[in-house]
Amino acid sequence: MNVTLEQIVSLAKRRGFVFPGSEIYGGLAGTFDYGPHGVTLKKNIENLWWRMFVEERDDMFGIDSAILMNSRVWETSGHVGGFNDPLVIDQKTNKRYRADHLLEDAGVDPTGMSLEQMGAAIAEKALKSPEGNALSQPQQFNMMFKTSVGSVEGGEMPVYLRPETAQGMFVNFKNVQDSLHPKLPFGIAQIGKSFRNEIAPREFVFRVRELEIMELEYFLREEDWEEMFEYWRKEMHTWFNLIGLTPEDINEVEVSAEERAHYSKRTTDFYFKFPGGFKELGGLAYRTDYDLSKHAEATGEDLSYLDPETNTRTIPHVIEPTLGVGRTLLAVLTAAYREDDLGGEVRTYLALPAKLAPVKAMVSPLLRNKPELVAKAREVRALLKKVHPAIAWDDNGNIGKRYLAQDEIGTPFCVTVDYQTLEDQSVTVRHRDDANQIRVDASQLAMYLRDAMKQ
Ligand code: GAP
Repeated sequence: MNVTLEQIVSLAKRRGFVFPGSEIYGGLAGTFDYGPHGVTLKKNIENLWWRMFVEERDDMFGIDSAILMNSRVWETSGHVGGFNDPLVIDQKTNKRYRADHLLEDAGVDPTGMSLEQMGAAIAEKALKSPEGNALSQPQQFNMMFKTSVGSVEGGEMPVYLRPETAQGMFVNFKNVQDSLHPKLPFGIAQIGKSFRNEIAPREFVFRVRELEIMELEYFLREEDWEEMFEYWRKEMHTWFNLIGLTPEDINEVEVSAEERAHYSKRTTDFYFKFPGGFKELGGLAYRTDYDLSKHAEATGEDLSYLDPETNTRTIPHVIEPTLGVGRTLLAVLTAAYREDDLGGEVRTYLALPAKLAPVKAMVSPLLRNKPELVAKAREVRALLKKVHPAIAWDDNGNIGKRYLAQDEIGTPFCVTVDYQTLEDQSVTVRHRDDANQIRVDASQLAMYLRDAMKQ
């Protein structure tokens, strides 16, 4: 269905998925806090990514590198000089806006425009700030957060909060090679926080200042890059399918030479049909040997690979599949959001793939004031939790309300203990998507749910 961002933001807040950051202090733009169901959904996404891209492969090595790195890393990578967005300032309020976004909103394509050309286009269209005031000339704005380390007064050293996780993989290339001796092609992967001082954070978790990235650097021989690019393109689609995104909702966009990052010789972006239209969810870049060569040059370290077949040394080339965790979570919520008619009432539910659902099943007694039903339901839940840990308990309100609450969280099954359970040990299992109920023997429940979750 065509869900709006407002519907997702509202559900995310009322059901404990995502809250605005620092809310009771009036918030902090571009930050969000993940609530109990949000953090579980996020971890389920990350664990699935880790399983598919790291654990199920013999050629992938996971790391977790520091957020703070020697600032020379960012000079070498080109981020100090070039990780910029075009900024214009409202001359009256001093508020900052993205020049390219204002142009896009006015129907002008800013792709490939220089700062001067953007300034000319803004003047030609007589564009004003959203408050209706005159704008400054566009200027470059570096998106890295700068801070300092040091315990001696006046002796601080400037450092940046990393804007991408990739450099942690490049600076550890030699460590991974020396400690695990992998043969080409092989990859280094990580999931971690990154920080970008976005001029205009917007659209919920789509554009934030504190984000998480899941990405890997796949090191290979230069002559293999085209074949490997195609291979990783297919792997990205396998991933989208695994998390319940349908092919019709994914578009591939070839990034033009003017729009590509400075290190890339080819980039394909994967756009997802978010509320409001297709936008970038992830990317696949051929980074050549740019990063390793630059780091080798800057440090004097040998970052080459000794090919055991030819006994020659080369700097490996790199293909990088990358995904934002927050954007993936937003895509998963968008794809799962449903409304239907249940007994004459509009019902909202999340048709989440069972492997991602924060709660796998909810167990409850039909009536909360009947101790024999409560005791039996607790026993059923305790048994189930031994096999499926994420089993919720709910004995609030009436059973209908409990079901609807679980539907909005995306819980695939609700298990109810009633008087018949006391007689024949069977419980009812209600399926989320069609709200159908069947009776299952309590001793078979764990197996039943395991099989049903595979479908
Ligand atoms: N190492 C390559 C790299 O960082 P990127 O396209 O700049 O590439 C990777 O970022 C992914 O991170 C993007 O595809 C997007 O999903 C996500 N992302 C980028 N900026 C973001 C932001 N401000 N808020 C949320 N997610 C963001």
